[in-house]
Parts: sequence; structure tokens; C-alpha cells
Amino acid sequence: MKKKTVLILSILLVAIAGITAFMIYKKYGKIVPYMEQLTKEQVGENVNLQPTSQKDAHYVGSQKCQKCHEEKFKDWKDSYHTKMIQDIKANPSAIVGDFATLPEDADFKKEDIVYTIGTKFKQRYMMEVDFNGTKDYVVGSYQWNTQLKKWQPYSSTKDWYQDAFENNNSKVGTSKTCDGCHFTGFMSQEKRTEPSVSCEACHGPASKHALHPEQDLVYKASNADPKRSSEVCMQCHMRNRDKRLETHTLKDLFGDVRDYPKGYEPGMPLVDYKKKAPFDGKETSEFYGNGVGKKNRTQGNDYVQSMMYKHGITCINCHDPHKLDNTVAKPLGDASCMKCHSFGSAIGPHQSTIEAHTHHKADSKGSSCIECHMPKIGKHLPESPATVRTHRFGFITPDETKKYKVPNACNSCHQDKSLEWSEEALKKWGMSQWVTK
Ligand code: HEC
Ligand code: HEC
Ligand code: HEC
Ligand code: HEC
Ligand code: HEC
Ligand code: HEC
Ligand code: HEC
Ligand code: HEC
Repeated sequence: MKKKTVLILSILLVAIAGITAFMIYKKYGKIVPYMEQLTKEQVGENVNLQPTSQKDAHYVGSQKCQKCHEEKFKDWKDSYHTKMIQDIKANPSAIVGDFATLPEDADFKKEDIVYTIGTKFKQRYMMEVDFNGTKDYVVGSYQWNTQLKKWQPYSSTKDWYQDAFENNNSKVGTSKTCDGCHFTGFMSQEKRTEPSVSCEACHGPASKHALHPEQDLVYKASNADPKRSSEVCMQCHMRNRDKRLETHTLKDLFGDVRDYPKGYEPGMPLVDYKKKAPFDGKETSEFYGNGVGKKNRTQGNDYVQSMMYKHGITCINCHDPHKLDNTVAKPLGDASCMKCHSFGSAIGPHQSTIEAHTHHKADSKGSSCIECHMPKIGKHLPESPATVRTHRFGFITPDETKKYKVPNACNSCHQDKSLEWSEEALKKWGMSQWVTK
């Protein structure tokens, strides 16, 4: 062979190798850093990953952690997880409700309040009571709807547990219905170590770690086992039932039904501590007819239906567990999805440009990932505007709206247009599989 031919062939080979490498990168590049997480063998539903040193530890509170973990403490302190329950003696300005307009038949007064629960969407009020010698709390009969700026009646025994308690807030202790999720330490050890969601709600009891940090570790929901990791969040961010209802009726457990996975500690298998919230294909007060959440606190119920959950992506791939700053919120926008996804890649979107995928201009609101894949379809209270974004991620079609009365992404934004209008557009875009035939 002539020297020149060899040279040309070599250049060609290098070029082909280069192009192939580029194509492979384009197809898989961005997801490669997550491959270890995604391909690791998962431990299975019932395996306990809590460090053995935590088994006989107890809850000590966040103050103990501060001196050694200053940075995490600060990140957490500024987050909403610390704002949920506020002691109004320590912080009287925590009350957001307008008590000048509190209806006269309310079963509480401003002076009775010990704690407030919530701020952003709604606020409820806790009063201390004595139930047969045990300190407990009850929730007032009115709640402040922050979104609508008005009082609305509140019954803590509505919905699924109306047959589990007396229908009277002042007879129902928050120890049964709220405190597992709204105090730290109550879920498993029935002690209100600290109001709100503090360190040990996610890391488990840390009394031994605080004494011998290197020898006695605590649970860290790292990416080791993705499902066990998301469960740390789903102990609270999910609607479930008392585990005992698998073998008992509400009547058997009258007055003692728990609305949280009692006994659970981070690292333990969550399925051992809760019964799945029932859904049999019909709309309920919690779910639309296609099984997607209709209320707040359904992130876990939605997320377990997503391909991302099934393939091992976790809550903390998208949410910083301490700051809780949502990586999609400005200024990151779509970039927080695009840290894994890219156009024409193996995990999608399969089209080669944003316009080809969304059929909207690149800078249109109609091209924002979360507007189509996480439309706001859930509500905090029946009268509130829909502000809760779904965590199912799969696209909800106009056809599903017809079948299940679940809002779809297109018409949530194009509110003045009909379902048929959206279906017509989808048909034009070559997506006729979602159009009612
Ligand atoms: C006396 C100092 C000290 C105190 C108090 C302390 N820690 Fe630590 N913590 C450490 C040190 C040191 C490490 C690193 C241990 C290692 O990697 O060997 C650590 C590691 C951790 C880790 C990571 C565990 C892992 O597997 O990587 C978490 C989570 C943690 N601490 C949480 C807490 C919490 C929650 C509290 C409060 C209840 C707390 N710590 C109190 C010193 C402390
Ligand atoms: C012990 C219960 C509990 C656990 C565990 C928990 N959360 Fe929360 N989370 C809450 C409550 C309650 C709120 C509402 C706080 C409020 O509005 O004042 C909340 C709020 C949030 C918010 C909204 C913040 C905002 O600015 O609006 C995000 C995001 C969040 N949690 C993510 C997570 C993630 C991720 C995990 C797991 C690493 C987790 N949570 C674990 C109870 C919990
Ligand atoms: C809502 C749940 C949640 C709360 C509340 C929380 N953490 Fe964490 N923490 C996590 C998760 C999840 C990780 C693992 C993050 C990762 O691997 O990316 C973590 C990691 C850590 C680590 C290890 C950091 C590292 O680089 O390995 C420390 C230390 C820690 N947390 C301390 C704290 C302290 C102290 C508090 C309270 C002031 C606290 N955490 C509150 C969920 C939480
Ligand atoms: C299984 C855990 C769990 C139980 C039980 C629970 N909550 Fe919550 N609650 C949450 C989580 C998680 C959020 C925040 C996420 C969301 O709303 O989507 C929340 C949000 C709230 C909010 C709104 C916060 C805001 O800033 O607007 C209020 C008020 C509230 N809960 C009160 C209660 C009361 C009162 C009870 C008992 C009758 C109760 N919760 C029982 C987990 C729970
Ligand atoms: C693929 C990314 C992704 C994953 C995975 C994910 N989230 Fe989110 N989450 C988001 C985005 C985006 C928002 C909306 C942010 C906004 O409005 O800016 C959000 C919002 C939230 C909120 C606030 C809800 C409200 O009503 O304001 C909570 C709470 C939350 N997520 C919890 C969770 C929990 C718990 C998990 C795991 C079960 C989880 N998320 C998994 C991306 C994710
Ligand atoms: C940490 C990496 C990662 C991040 C961040 C991420 N994704 Fe994903 N996503 C994946 C993987 C992996 C899959 C599964 C791909 C498959 O099934 O082929 C997936 C699948 C999907 C799917 C397919 C449908 C389904 O049921 O889940 C949609 C839609 C999606 N992601 C949207 C989003 C949006 C919107 C965001 C940003 C809020 C986001 N993703 C952020 C990794 C990620
Ligand atoms: C205008 C609505 C809309 C917007 C905006 C949108 N998507 Fe989609 N997405 C869809 C629809 C519809 C599908 C289903 C496509 C199909 O099956 O042909 C889909 C499918 C997907 C899938 C599954 C794989 C595939 O290609 O079918 C992923 C991943 C995805 N989108 C990610 C994203 C990301 C990341 C963004 C932001 C850059 C985004 N989407 C913006 C409507 C949208
Ligand atoms: C978050 C808001 C948003 C979502 C979600 C959204 N769009 Fe749009 N859409 C827009 C905006 C804004 C325009 C104006 C033109 C532009 O910016 O591209 C538009 C333009 C259009 C147009 C062309 C203009 C017209 O009025 O005839 C059609 C057709 C359309 N959208 C259909 C859909 C369909 C179908 C879906 C669901 C797959 C969808 N849109 C989802 C905001 C949205």
C-alpha cells in the first residue's frame, strides 16, 4: 500500500472513532456519572440498613449536632423543615392567621395556642391537653388558609379515619394523627424531642454518635440503595395507612389509629411500618382515577409510579436534603433536569432539539420541563388553588382528563381551550396515541 493511502485510511479511522465516541457521549454522556447508582443491585424491600450502633440509641435534638456540623446545621436552619411547627412563646410572630376575624364558634382562642403548624399554604393551631394523665395536643376547629387569606373549618377526623375517632377535634390527640411526622423523635420512640423535622428525622437516633462520632455512625441516606434512600423522605411525604389495618378494622383500633408509619426509623424498610393507601382504580379523596395524587403530601405516592424511581433516581438527586432549595426553581430552571437528560440521548427526550420535543418555542413557558411533566394539579385544601406539582413525571394526556377527570398539562396552561383543541394539536404533532378515538 502506498504511504498516502495508509495516511488517508488512518485519518478516516480516527475520524470514525471520534464521531462514534461523540455519538456515544451524546447518547449516554450525561447519565454516566449516575451509572453506579442506577446499576447497583438493590437490596430489596425488607432489608434493614440502619447501622447496628443506632439500635439502642435515642433522640437528642439538633442542638447537639451544631458544634460539629456547623455548615449542615445552618443549611437546615434556613429551610422550611424548621418552620413547620413553631413554639409561639419563642416566636410569637409565627402566627399568620388574622385573629380579628376568627369565627365566634371556634373552639379555641389565640391565648390558648402552644404551637402553630404550617405557614405557607395553611396554618393550624395546637393546644395542650391532658388525656388521662398524659400530655397531648389537640388541633383547633378552624384553620387559616394562607393562599386565600381566610378561615376555614377544620376537622382532624375527616377523610379516611372518620370511623377511627370521635368526630370532635378536642377529643383527638395529635399523638395519633400528626406528631409522628410533625415532631422529631415521636415516630418511633413516642417522645417529642424537637418540634419540626430535624436532623434525626432523617439520620435516626444519634445519642451514641454524639458521644463517639467515629465509632458509632448514624444512617446517611446516600445513594447506596436508592429505594431505601427515598424512603427517608417518604416516611412523611406520602399518604399511607396504619400497618395494623392489614389485619384489623378501624373499629378494632378505634381511638388509636396512626396516620404515620409508627416505629419507623431511617434505614429501616418502610414497608414494614405502613399499609399502602388504598386505590382500586376509582377516584378517592386522595387520588384521581388514574392513581395520581390529588392533595398535598402525595410526592411519594406519585413518585413510586415514575420510571425515574424504578430506575434508581432518588428524591435527593433533585432536592438538597438540608437546604431543600429546589434545584428547578430559578435560577437553574431546566438545567436541573438537563444535568441528566439531553436531547437525542438514551434516556430522552428522544428528539434532537427542544422545539422538536415540546412543539413550543425554546424560550416559551410551554417549553419548561416541569410545566408539562409536573403540572400543578394537587390542592392543599378543597377551595385552594391547585399549587401542588405532581411527582409522577410521565406526561398526563388530555385523554386521561376525559377518562379520569385528572387535569392534564396542556389545559392546565391553556385554560381557555378545550380538550379537543389539545388533542388536535397532539394529533398534528404525530402523538395520536393519546387522542380519544
Ligand atoms: C463531637 C462531634 C460530633 C457530634 C456532636 C455529632 N457529630 Fe456527626 N460526625 C462527626 C464526625 C467526626 C463524623 C465523621 C465520622 C467518620 O466519617 O468517621 C460525623 C459524621 C456524621 C454523618 C455522616 C455519616 C456517614 O455515614 O458518612 C452524619 C449524617 C452525622 N454525623 C450526623 C450527626 C447528627 C444528626 C448529629 C446530632 C444528633 C451529630 N452528627 C453529632 C462528629 C460529630
Ligand atoms: C419527619 C417528616 C419529614 C421528613 C422525614 C422529610 N420531610 Fe420534607 N417536609 C415535611 C413537612 C411537614 C414539610 C412542610 C413544612 C412547612 O411547610 O412548613 C416539608 C417540606 C418539604 C419541602 C418543601 C420546602 C419548601 O420550601 O416549600 C421539600 C422540597 C421537602 N420537604 C423535601 C424533603 C426531602 C427531599 C426529604 C428527604 C431527604 C424530606 N423532605 C424529609 C416533612 C418531612
Ligand atoms: C430531610 C432529611 C435530612 C435532615 C433534616 C438532615 N439531613 Fe443530613 N443528610 C440527609 C441526607 C439524605 C444526606 C446524604 C446526602 C448525600 O449523600 O448527598 C445527609 C448527609 C449529611 C451529612 C454527611 C455529609 C457528607 O458530606 O457526607 C451530615 C454530616 C449531615 N447530613 C448532618 C446533618 C445535621 C447536623 C442535620 C441537622 C442540623 C441534618 N443533617 C439534617 C438528610 C437530612
Ligand atoms: C405521614 C406524615 C404526616 C402526617 C401524619 C401529618 N402530616 Fe401534615 N404534612 C406532612 C408533610 C410531608 C407536609 C408537607 C408536604 C406537603 O404538604 O405536600 C405536611 C403539611 C402540613 C401543613 C401545611 C404546611 C404549610 O406550610 O402550609 C399543615 C398545616 C399540616 N401538615 C398539618 C397537619 C396536621 C394538623 C396533622 C394531623 C391531623 C398532620 N399534618 C398530619 C406530613 C404529615
Ligand atoms: C426529578 C426531580 C425530582 C425528584 C426525583 C423529586 N422531586 Fe420533589 N420537586 C421537584 C420539582 C421540580 C419541584 C417543584 C419545584 C418548584 O415549584 O420550583 C418539586 C417540589 C417538591 C415539593 C414541594 C411541593 C409543594 O407543594 O410545593 C416537595 C415537598 C417535594 N418536591 C418532595 C419530594 C420528595 C419527597 C421526593 C421523593 C419521593 C421528590 N420530591 C422527588 C423535583 C423532583
Ligand atoms: C439524576 C438524573 C436525573 C435527573 C436530575 C432527572 N432525570 Fe428524568 N430520568 C432519569 C432516568 C435515569 C430516567 C429513566 C430513563 C428510562 O426509563 O429510559 C428518567 C426518566 C424521565 C422521564 C420518563 C417518564 C417517567 O415515567 O419518568 C421523564 C418524563 C423525566 N425523566 C423527566 C424529568 C424532569 C422533568 C426532570 C427535572 C425536574 C428530570 N427528569 C430530572 C434521570 C434523571
Ligand atoms: C409541551 C409539553 C412538554 C414539555 C415542555 C416537555 N416535555 Fe418531555 N414529553 C412530553 C410528551 C408529550 C412526552 C411523551 C413523548 C412521546 O411518548 O412521544 C414527553 C416525553 C419525555 C421523556 C420520555 C422520553 C421520550 O422522549 O419520550 C423525557 C425523558 C422527557 N419528556 C423529558 C423532558 C425534559 C427534560 C424537558 C425539558 C427540557 C421536557 N421533557 C419538556 C411533553 C413535554
Ligand atoms: C406552561 C404553559 C404551557 C403548557 C404546559 C403548554 N403550552 Fe402550549 N403554549 C403556551 C404558550 C405561552 C404559547 C404561545 C406560543 C409560544 O410561546 O410558543 C403556546 C402555544 C401553543 C400552540 C400554538 C398557538 C395557538 O394558540 O394555536 C398550541 C397548538 C399549543 N400551545 C398546544 C399545547 C399542547 C397540546 C400542550 C400540551 C402538550 C401545551 N400547549 C402545553 C404555553 C403552554
